[in-house]
Amino acid sequence: MTGVWNKSDWRKKPRVQMPDYPDQDALRAVEAQLSKYPPLVFAGESRRLRAELAKASRGEAFLLQGGDCAESFAEFSADSIRETFKVMLQMAVVLTFGAKVPVIKVGRMAGQFAKPRSAPTETKGGVELPSYRGDIINEIDFTEAARLPDPEKMLRAYTQAAASLNLLRAFSTGGFADIHRVHSWTTGFADADKAERYRDVSNRISDALDFMTAAGLSADRINTMAMVDFYTSHEALLLEYEEALTRVDSTTGQTIAGSGHMIWIGDRTRQPDGAHVAFCRGVINPIGLKCGPSMTPDDLKPLLAALNPENAPGRLTLITRFGAGKVAEHMPRLVETVKSEGANVVWCCDPMHGNTIKSATGYKTRPFDLVLSEVREFFAVHREHGTVPGGVHFEMTGQDVTECTGGVRAVTEEDLSDRYHTACDPRLNASQSLELAFLVAEELSNRRDLARAVS
Ligand code: PEP
Ligand code: CO
Repeated sequence: MTGVWNKSDWRKKPRVQMPDYPDQDALRAVEAQLSKYPPLVFAGESRRLRAELAKASRGEAFLLQGGDCAESFAEFSADSIRETFKVMLQMAVVLTFGAKVPVIKVGRMAGQFAKPRSAPTETKGGVELPSYRGDIINEIDFTEAARLPDPEKMLRAYTQAAASLNLLRAFSTGGFADIHRVHSWTTGFADADKAERYRDVSNRISDALDFMTAAGLSADRINTMAMVDFYTSHEALLLEYEEALTRVDSTTGQTIAGSGHMIWIGDRTRQPDGAHVAFCRGVINPIGLKCGPSMTPDDLKPLLAALNPENAPGRLTLITRFGAGKVAEHMPRLVETVKSEGANVVWCCDPMHGNTIKSATGYKTRPFDLVLSEVREFFAVHREHGTVPGGVHFEMTGQDVTECTGGVRAVTEEDLSDRYHTACDPRLNASQSLELAFLVAEELSNRRDLARAVS
């Protein structure tokens, strides 16, 4: 894995989960056009995110990563971006309170368009068609024309990502994120749902804010608190799109994937000698690596070496997704590998992708209790091994959807058909997301107590 890296190296490697475009000329034309467009994010921003993630690797910050499973062209609106942004800020306030460290907010947004699939084709009523692979590649409608990969969709995805980022940047700096305001929404949740334990945390946050105001927190400080850093991330699956948006930072000469601040490698595309690792290893962005139940120490070691040869903290985040009841079986061997290699990583829990089931009513869903159990098991393994639980990764939306079952405002299997809008996997709705944040905050305050006890 040594030698000079080139952004096209991946083309010589085995690729999986990527479309074969029938019209290669059209593909080349789109790539040429995208290569001339401005990058969506800048190297300095990704470097700052890396520095923040380095803190998360040591327990001095906590990562909150969340958003759609798949962003869609049809559901794109300012409202849906604002609502998801808003819930993430609320969750961050609650988590900050639990962890007593800064929460790093990273959206699965402004680029999360391409999807790996469990099967290359889908059969309905005796008709077999290529699977839907995300709006950047083909369309969800079950017709032959819709399922044909169309490179022009990359241009539309770029435009939507640019518009999304523009809005996110405005929300982050325009006063929308004022902590007093964000917390008042959290209070609303705790009252409406009559959940005693959430109300207690919520009241304590209110007291802390009242105290700061009474103690004469300066206007300048309050202004700073009204601004947040919000980063974007997505799975770097469609490498033609990623390569076309790769840029060289003029100040440092470093290469950056200009498509999003952080990119990750999926559980199905993490082959050490495959195309996705070949691309990601050469860009300076923080890299996420999904780790599912099949990952062994021998799989992980070459990936640590390829993706973070300098062992820089903040570069690599291991996003574990085993499924409830399976964390104790699969995570310890990876935790021990990381320890024995002396590798610097952020451990992040994705309690979504190991907990997808088919409901009796035929919908793909995720029971809230399983999501919650996986988070608890993740914290428990880290407690046992003396390692740092550094973050969480959720598929969620600010919209009031009914895609996952359970939660305080219980969604039942029968409710799933009411507002099931996801283009891919089932997402937590606003209330489920916030509830989860309260529960993670409890685990985080245990982490703090533990740190105090050992120091
Ligand atoms: C995802 O995050 O949407 C995804 C497909 O995850 P994984 O690669 O872990 O299955
Ligand atoms: Co998903």
